[in-house]
Amino acid sequence: MQVNDVTRYECEGLIAVITVDSPPVNAFSAKVRQGIAGGLEKARADEAVGAVVLICQGKTFFAGADITEFGKPVIEPSLRTMQAMIEDFPKPVIAAIHGTALGGGLETALVCHYRIAVPSARMGLPEVNLGLLPGAGGTQRLPRVIGVAAALDLMTSGKQTGAKKALDMALIDRLADEGNLRGEAIAFAQAVLDEKRPLVKVRDMTEKLEEARANPALFDDFRKANARKFRGFKAPENIIRSVENVLKLPFDEGMVQERALFNELMEGSQSAAQRHVFFAERQAAKVDDIGKDVELLPVRKVGVIGAGTMGGGIAMNFLNVGIPVTIVETSQDALDRGLGIIRKNYEVTASKGKMKPEDVDMRMGLLTGVTMLEALADMDLIIEAVFENLDVKREVFAKLDAIAKPGAILATNTSYLDIDDIAAATKRPESVIGLHFFSPANVMKLLEIVRTKDTAKPIVATAGKLAKTIGKIGVTVGNGFGFVGNRILAARNTQCDQLVLEGATPQQVDKALYDFGFPMGHFQMRDLVGLDVGWNRETTSSANVREILNEMGRHGQKTKGGYYDYDEKRNHTPSPVALKVIEDFAAKQGIARRAISDEEILDRILYAMVNEGARILDEGIASRSSDIDICWVTGYGWPRYRGGPMFWADLQGVPQVLEKLKTLQAKHGDSFVPSPLIERLVAEGKNFNQA
Ligand code: 3HC
Ligand code: NAI
Repeated sequence: MQVNDVTRYECEGLIAVITVDSPPVNAFSAKVRQGIAGGLEKARADEAVGAVVLICQGKTFFAGADITEFGKPVIEPSLRTMQAMIEDFPKPVIAAIHGTALGGGLETALVCHYRIAVPSARMGLPEVNLGLLPGAGGTQRLPRVIGVAAALDLMTSGKQTGAKKALDMALIDRLADEGNLRGEAIAFAQAVLDEKRPLVKVRDMTEKLEEARANPALFDDFRKANARKFRGFKAPENIIRSVENVLKLPFDEGMVQERALFNELMEGSQSAAQRHVFFAERQAAKVDDIGKDVELLPVRKVGVIGAGTMGGGIAMNFLNVGIPVTIVETSQDALDRGLGIIRKNYEVTASKGKMKPEDVDMRMGLLTGVTMLEALADMDLIIEAVFENLDVKREVFAKLDAIAKPGAILATNTSYLDIDDIAAATKRPESVIGLHFFSPANVMKLLEIVRTKDTAKPIVATAGKLAKTIGKIGVTVGNGFGFVGNRILAARNTQCDQLVLEGATPQQVDKALYDFGFPMGHFQMRDLVGLDVGWNRETTSSANVREILNEMGRHGQKTKGGYYDYDEKRNHTPSPVALKVIEDFAAKQGIARRAISDEEILDRILYAMVNEGARILDEGIASRSSDIDICWVTGYGWPRYRGGPMFWADLQGVPQVLEKLKTLQAKHGDSFVPSPLIERLVAEGKNFNQA
């Protein structure tokens, strides 16, 4: 019988089965909570019922609290009220887990008296990724089941654990056969009754806490070991504090404190930012004019042209998911070098235990290296990653046009060039698209999918699907200088260069960005990438500091000198040489250097970036402001807890952004002329998210 439209109640002998079916992920919406409470009432009232199985229909067990309800008034029963009903239920309640038991889902499994799961099930407390802590008892119960150290690791990383490992850790009591969860859960419930097993309440367990009691330094050791990873984020510290309470406070008081620490996070801007990123990532996968009806093309064989920095990494993405790749180079030497780097990358991964040693050969076995473009004749997708030079790329595409089979997707990894110009070298511009990977291409999550005015819809749709297949976050953007990410980077470049000429030091600029939350500063990043990327020895003319440093042989980390000096271990120190170059160049330009405050540094950099983002949005190069945020969070290290540049701007308030830009324009000139979109949004009382 239906309890409500998402909950069914059935009896199988002595066992009541409460089944929740609330697509897409059985999140604990009010209806779901009400349905479970209703089911429990029925089971309580029915004397013939001896035990209850709680199970879900669809692709997963409960994926957690319903994030869309956050910030709204609570509708009873709350998650905690519903959990108390389960934990205090007078008859055994058994959680039957498949798919992913996440967040409030796992926390609810932990108030059940027993847990059974299929081997493919995964469990975790990913609240930290939303800037939160597990606020439905997770911080108090999980350590009691798997021990403090393991619980801290799971909760601060948000990692998922497979069912087999969960069984080893006693997080679940039993494994069920893959196809028969319901049947086995009922049998398990019957066995619990037959064996007169107790109503196990995790809240009463203490044994697993002993190890941590004997080692109180564990918490500070954990903080120290993870200081770099947690830098800037508030949620991990609140998780640790809440787990410390497990040892200090009785269970109920620990729960009160958990709620307080949870609320503190929920009310802060970090969680709002991280929740924004969660939804923005999923939104990015949706392209307005590309519905589910658009045909997807098969991608069974991939060709990559160029086995340099990017080509090698791009190839690895496909090898990793079992798609064979043919990679083309201009000479055997370059090819051998490229293939060698790919193999070495895999070997390093295997030596760290992150990949099975036999997989190195298996993946390399899917890779064919050639020096003839003709070998790409039967590829479904060909990605060009040769030098960033329009003539070279046009030549490659003209040849490809003659070689590639009809319907093949022809992609370029260009960083800045106009893809229309590249496509014009072929007679099939509708087959040409930009697939802009980020370095290192096998690691970085972002993939800018650049559609031109001619790119056919099935090609765009296939690129989106492909991004998911290879574990990237695909953001579909328009064709224009630097697309989204690099165009905003160019705006940041301009300000950073100008700031050091006017009197800031590279380390001062870098510190301001690092303290804002970027993993590294701007000039450090340039030194790392190499100052000579895009620099031309033939045409260089001492036109800026970067050119002069290059002319001096200071190409960055690899030559032990760039904006910084580097030692053998690549540790950086401020460079008197670079500073002299900057000072001399400023003098030559007639720029009087002055002391510049950290506040001015951040204002100029961040507002210039936001202004460029607004222009990108206005021109339709990005179709929504959250897409810009995703590019910068996943491709350029914008701190996730600040939600991306446009989210950050919304947080400041668009009218304040406009005011600030006008002030900056008055002081620093036309690079701060506010985008017309900002003026319009202020007039309409809207923010970027509503643009
Ligand atoms: N609440 C509301 N909506 C959710 C949701 C949730 N917890 N989890 C996923 N969704 C929505 C997504 O937004 C998406 O909606 P859309 O189709 O309209 O874009 C839809 O469900 C499908 O999600 P995915 O595209 O992510 O589907 P996948 O199959 O790739 O992944 C998943 C499924 C692994 C469950 C993934 O969605 C996920 O990781 N969800 C978040 C889990 C989570 O963070 N849980 C903790 C919540 S906080 C909490 O429980 C607090 C508690 O401690 C008090
Ligand atoms: P790279 O110089 O490391 O590699 C280019 C490779 O292409 C070289 O090995 C070269 O021998 C080969 N090549 C040149 N012409 C060829 C041809 N006709 N046929 C086959 N191979 C040819 O350059 P990198 O850094 O890999 O850049 C490649 C492209 O990726 C450029 O368009 C660049 O703008 C873009 N890109 C680079 C990023 C980076 O961080 N390096 C990031 C994102 C995009």
